[in-house]
Amino acid sequence: MTDAFSISVLERRASAKPRDAAFYQDPYAFYSALHLGTPTFLWEDYGHWCFTGFREVNGLLRDKRFGRQITHVMSREELGWAPPKAHTAAFDLTEKYSLLALEPPAHTRLRTLVNRAFVSRNVEQLRPRIERLANAMIDALEPQGGIELIKAFAAPIPAIVIAEMIGLPAEMALQLLNWSNRMVQMYMFGVTHETELDANTASEDFMAYLREVIAARRRQPKEDLLTHMLTADPVDGQKLTEDEVVSTAILLLNAGHEATVHTTGNAVKTILESGLDPQTLFATPEQTEATVEECLRYDAPLHMFTRYALEDVTLDTGEHFRKGETIGLMLGAANRDPKRFAHADTFDPFRTDGQNVSFGAGIHFCIGAPLARIELQTALSTLFKRLPGIRLAGEPRYNNVYHFHGLERLDVTW
Ligand code: HEM
Repeated sequence: MTDAFSISVLERRASAKPRDAAFYQDPYAFYSALHLGTPTFLWEDYGHWCFTGFREVNGLLRDKRFGRQITHVMSREELGWAPPKAHTAAFDLTEKYSLLALEPPAHTRLRTLVNRAFVSRNVEQLRPRIERLANAMIDALEPQGGIELIKAFAAPIPAIVIAEMIGLPAEMALQLLNWSNRMVQMYMFGVTHETELDANTASEDFMAYLREVIAARRRQPKEDLLTHMLTADPVDGQKLTEDEVVSTAILLLNAGHEATVHTTGNAVKTILESGLDPQTLFATPEQTEATVEECLRYDAPLHMFTRYALEDVTLDTGEHFRKGETIGLMLGAANRDPKRFAHADTFDPFRTDGQNVSFGAGIHFCIGAPLARIELQTALSTLFKRLPGIRLAGEPRYNNVYHFHGLERLDVTW
């Protein structure tokens, strides 16, 4: 028992308040205690069972008896859900055709239509552009001698890259960040009415903007993802509808930068706190890749994703879940499982047992993983090579959004 959490190993229950700073500033203390005590447990504050073991999380992400969508197999009445709220209708519409809200066959059709743009050999072509962007940003920052790194460096790169890929001008990146940040607040624990209203307004404005750009692309197609989605050959006899294109573009824009921004910030913090020489961590392309993977493992940006049981399920380990029940898969904890990793709580970019579930697994495995990896490898190696004297200039603090484990600010000097 600490101030931040309590665990009952015998009853396989635990409590930790997601909005309590003592908890979300360092969720790893909770995870360590769970790994030693009861890796599978009922999280009282959420009211559902959670899994922290690497093998369990990796397996359940791939288990077809669980899914991200439930309303295709059970009605809202059967689930005991209240009717949809009128004041979040615009936000709900952005989610309706989101890959993250669908299961096969709808998910397969939509994913097939956008997948090609994100495969490694296609996103690899963006590497020179990302290198130019990172270098141009350091050119502008270097004379300042110090900066708040999240806003000045970590956030703009992924936002500009995904905006350009979809076909929106780089100048829109700040506005896109604003809409996205306001929408992401909906995933916080204990959302207020004001937050809902604000996220809905952001969704309305975001959709209206995209519909304008879509209309322009219909008149005059371009070489971008938006045009590709509008003109792609049908899958299963169906082309994408305008609502599907809007939903997918918003998902790509939001998912396409939030987690990458957080990973960049977390990685810089981890490296600077580790006392290791950054020059050795980025000495070769292979070591750069390994360093980025270890950063993703050590301090993942996304800590919990949920799944619904799509049928009554009894796991090999004995836990039983009724159809419609929610389970929590704790990616950030699985990455620190001492059963899977030697000295799991040590940042070691030279480890030989490296692996992580930070991008998920199974059919919802992150479609942007190849792009995110290139962005992280490029941004981090450029930053540490160009600013060899970089050091922390204040204690980094995490945001009050447990699921999105990223820094509020990261002050550095050089
Ligand atoms: C370090 C950066 C990133 C991390 C850690 C990350 C993590 C994840 C995770 C864990 C999932 C699966 C969620 C689940 O299983 O419930 C996911 C899905 C997804 N990610 Fe990422 N992501 C990152 C960057 C990106 C980028 C750059 C893009 C887009 C360009 C992107 C687009 C998506 C999409 C569209 C999905 C949904 C895929 C589906 O449901 O089929 N992500 N991401």
